[in-house]
Amino acid sequence: MHYVGDPRRSAKALIHRDELGGVGVFGSSPWIAYVALQKLQGVADPTSLHSESPTTVPSDVAATRAELDARLAEYWPGLIQFVLSRPRAPSEISKISARTIQLKEGERVQLTHFRGAQQTHANVLPTAARVLCCELLESQFEKLHVFTSRADIIVKRQRDGSFAWRTAPATKVPVEQSHNRRKQYLIPEDVPCPFLIEIGVMNREGRVLAAKYHKFRQINRFLELVDDILPHLPQDREIQVVDFGSGKSYLTFALHHLLTQIRGRAVQIVGVDRKAEVIRDCSRIANELQCCGLTFEHGDIAQFGSLGHVDLMVALHACDTATDAALAQAVRWETPVILAVPCCQHELAAHLNPDPALTPIAAHGILQERFAALATDALRANLLELCGYQTQVVEFIDLEHTAKNLLIRAIRRDQPSTRTEHFLNSYRQLVGLLGIQPPYLATALKDLLPDGIVCKGGELDTA
Ligand SMILES: C[S@@+](CC[C@H](N)C(=O)[O-])C[C@H]1O[C@@H](n2cnc3c(N)ncnc32)[C@H](O)[C@@H]1O
Repeated sequence: MHYVGDPRRSAKALIHRDELGGVGVFGSSPWIAYVALQKLQGVADPTSLHSESPTTVPSDVAATRAELDARLAEYWPGLIQFVLSRPRAPSEISKISARTIQLKEGERVQLTHFRGAQQTHANVLPTAARVLCCELLESQFEKLHVFTSRADIIVKRQRDGSFAWRTAPATKVPVEQSHNRRKQYLIPEDVPCPFLIEIGVMNREGRVLAAKYHKFRQINRFLELVDDILPHLPQDREIQVVDFGSGKSYLTFALHHLLTQIRGRAVQIVGVDRKAEVIRDCSRIANELQCCGLTFEHGDIAQFGSLGHVDLMVALHACDTATDAALAQAVRWETPVILAVPCCQHELAAHLNPDPALTPIAAHGILQERFAALATDALRANLLELCGYQTQVVEFIDLEHTAKNLLIRAIRRDQPSTRTEHFLNSYRQLVGLLGIQPPYLATALKDLLPDGIVCKGGELDTA
């Protein structure tokens, strides 16, 4: 958070960036705040945009403006949205759209500046937004459309600088003001949670630190996904879980918290990672927090010996083919439930020899990389189906925060699928289209897969 001074007015504006990357500006006047924001965002001399002096405006024109101001003031309490468009002069900002939002601090109007493909945000008080809207209309835009709960007001600048406006029946209804709306999370805010305090997501009073809010949401989203699969876990005994590639174990501790503290279940959870130091640190934290049934073991996923019966295998962001190693272990152990969030995926991208039909994708490195990642997950899901799992790929956390946002959820079937032939064919077709050798998972599970997916020497049989 910092202050930006406006040298022409010796006034100051408070600017802060919110956790979503939006910029909030509060100034000693709306115009000061706006100018400060524009400076922050790199407009060379934003005050030059405000070129008209009110003293040069003829009195009849000034009267139309005053009337408009009064009309806007009358309707403003029901503001839903306003849009300033048609810049008066060539400008980086083609449009400004504003909507009412609800923040912890109260109601605000969020202005979105459209600059090419880029959008930037500024939050201002509703009354300040009206003044700012009028100043921007005067200085920069030809057109203003105000949507309120009672009516729409459409304003156009005339040649002489006056404004013509008309009111029309309201075309928008107020939507739920969901910005920063408090969601009921499985681990609630404002209730101190020991492991979140320990890993620095919450303070001792239970307040989630702004910089860690994304982590907090991710943890809760993961817990929702686990909560959904609870009916597939044993109801009458201790639940056995393995977390492959547990790393710093935010999500492992969260899982333990959900199962033991929130759902009251007895568990044995083993976090496995090949980094000795994270295993040491996580074991210490588990001890300090007295997390009963939570242990950590050093080792490589692919080499990890059997833990006996495992009810749930999770592998979250395990790098590249570590996800496949984890899936292969779980399938071999006949683990009833698998939750895997794949991470970086390099295996396929490096070996694609795609069908000419995919040339438009292969021609662009970034498209090929993303396509390869999606294809990898599609093949994983298909292979899991062929190994007896009902498999879904769902969104883990919104794309806004990470591209690694898919979760593979696989539930072991009691009965063999009636669609084996379908999955076999679709697997073969995709592999043929990609022109690849059998991926890691197919090779690792070749003895469990139907004949003809991987031949003895590991060669692909697409016949
Ligand atoms: C990106 S971190 C993810 C940590 C944690 N699961 C999470 O989601 O926050 C990936 C972890 O997987 C571990 N890892 C990668 N390959 C592994 C392997 N073959 N065996 C064991 N651990 C592995 C890495 O050491 C790292 O700690």
